[in-house]
Order: sequence, then C-alpha cells, then structure tokens
Amino acid sequence: MSQKTESRLRLGVNIDHVATVRNARGGAYPDPLRAALMAQEAGADGITAHLREDRRHITDSDIDALMAGLRVPLNFEMAATAEMQAIALRHKPHAVCLVPERREERTTEGGLEVAREENRLAHFIAPLRDAGCRVSIFIAADARQIEAAARIGAPVVELHTGAYCDFHAEGDFAARDAELARLVDMAALAQSLGLEVHAGHGLTYDTVAPIAQIPQVIELNIGHFLMGEAIFVGLTPAIAEMRQRMDAARAAAQ
Ligand code: PXP
Repeated sequence: MSQKTESRLRLGVNIDHVATVRNARGGAYPDPLRAALMAQEAGADGITAHLREDRRHITDSDIDALMAGLRVPLNFEMAATAEMQAIALRHKPHAVCLVPERREERTTEGGLEVAREENRLAHFIAPLRDAGCRVSIFIAADARQIEAAARIGAPVVELHTGAYCDFHAEGDFAARDAELARLVDMAALAQSLGLEVHAGHGLTYDTVAPIAQIPQVIELNIGHFLMGEAIFVGLTPAIAEMRQRMDAARAAAQ
C-alpha cells in the first residue's frame, strides 16, 4: 500500500448555499454561477453543486449555466434516482457524486448505503461511467461501504467528514480523534482497493488540516463554511485562506 502523499490537494468549492440565499427570496440574486466563476479565479480546482430532488437550492437552470460557463470541472452531486441519472447523462459533467437524500434532512446526513444496494448501484453507475463521468460515491468511513464501492466499480469514494467536524464543534475531542483515526484507516483501505479518495462535509478552517494530511486524500469538497465566511471577508479571501491552510497542512505532512 502506497503511503506517498500526493503533493497538490484539490479543492472543490460547493456553491449550493449561494442558491439557498437566492431562493430565500425567490429572485435572481445572488447568482451561483457568479460565485462559481469567482471561486474558479480564487483557486478552486472544481465546482460542486447538488441538484436535490426538491430543488431547494440548486435548480436545473443553475446546472445548465454551470455546464456552459465553467472552465474547471463540475462535480454534479445527486441522488441515485432515474430522474437524476437522465439529467447527468444529458449534461455529462466531469464527475457525478452519488449521495443519499432524504427530503426532511437539513443537509446530507449520512453516507450512501452501498453495501445494501450493491446490485442496483452497479447497474445505476454503468451508463454514467460509459458516458465518461467520473463516478464518486459519498460514504461513511466504514470498511463495508468502501469494499462495496470497489465491488460495484466506482472509481472514486468521498469520505464523509461530518461526524469528525460535529465532534470537534461539540468539544468532544476524544470522539473527534477516534473518528479521525477511522478516516485515516479507511482512506488507506480505499486506496489499497484501487479507489481514488476524496473527503468532505462540514469542514472549516479549524478542522481542515488533519484531513488535508491524510496521504491518500486528493480532493476536498467544501461549501457551507466558505459561504458563511464570505459574508464577512468576501469569497475570494475565504477560499484563499482555506487553500493556504490545506497547502500548509499538506506540506507539513511531507
Ligand atoms: N461533499 C458532499 C458529498 C456533500 O454532499 C456536501 C454538502 O452538500 C459537501 C461535500 C460540502 O459540505 P459543506 O457544505 O458542509 O462544506
């Protein structure tokens, strides 16, 4: 198993919550594409957007605009439904990240249950892969799920960092460190099975460094914190600060 740390960690900026603010008033601003273009200029290596079944933030026309306007790759997050598969096949984004979705949840609460749905998901991702989309599966740092993701032929897994971040915010540092240890072990397991490893959810300036130091992780997807921070300092400085913390942590780990 390689312990080599990939030098440059990619940052995917999730712009969903620009659309959340826009939709609070139902108008045309703030524009998620404008934020995405600004993020692109500020050093984002990709843009992530989640088209939810209920369209609570990103809409179909946002996806049209992002596909037409971005220079960097779009990571299209979606539930594993027939409707979303058809949309993804129409757009053929660079990456498709499958996430679980429950209407009543405030955000994506857990990882996808791949192990329980192996057969269906294997068939679901095949046409997306054939269309050239890099399929990623958002899962908990759990060996059963990682092994199932490898078996269904997904090239990428994104490890859910939400529990690690929640324990940090609650001040339960023993639980946080146990969760971090799990993420470290599971990233190594995933890479040993041939999977590319990404991570994200809930990351902030305070929690990003240990995740950036996991050698197998090559991409982080970060949104909500950056959009909140942008209210105070602006989007470009917020992204620059996150980028700097990621790079500093990565360099210190080498
Ligand atoms: N990765 C995935 C798969 C997600 O679903 C989300 C949230 O939409 C994120 C990363 C970004 O999480 P946050 O907005 O908490 O940074």
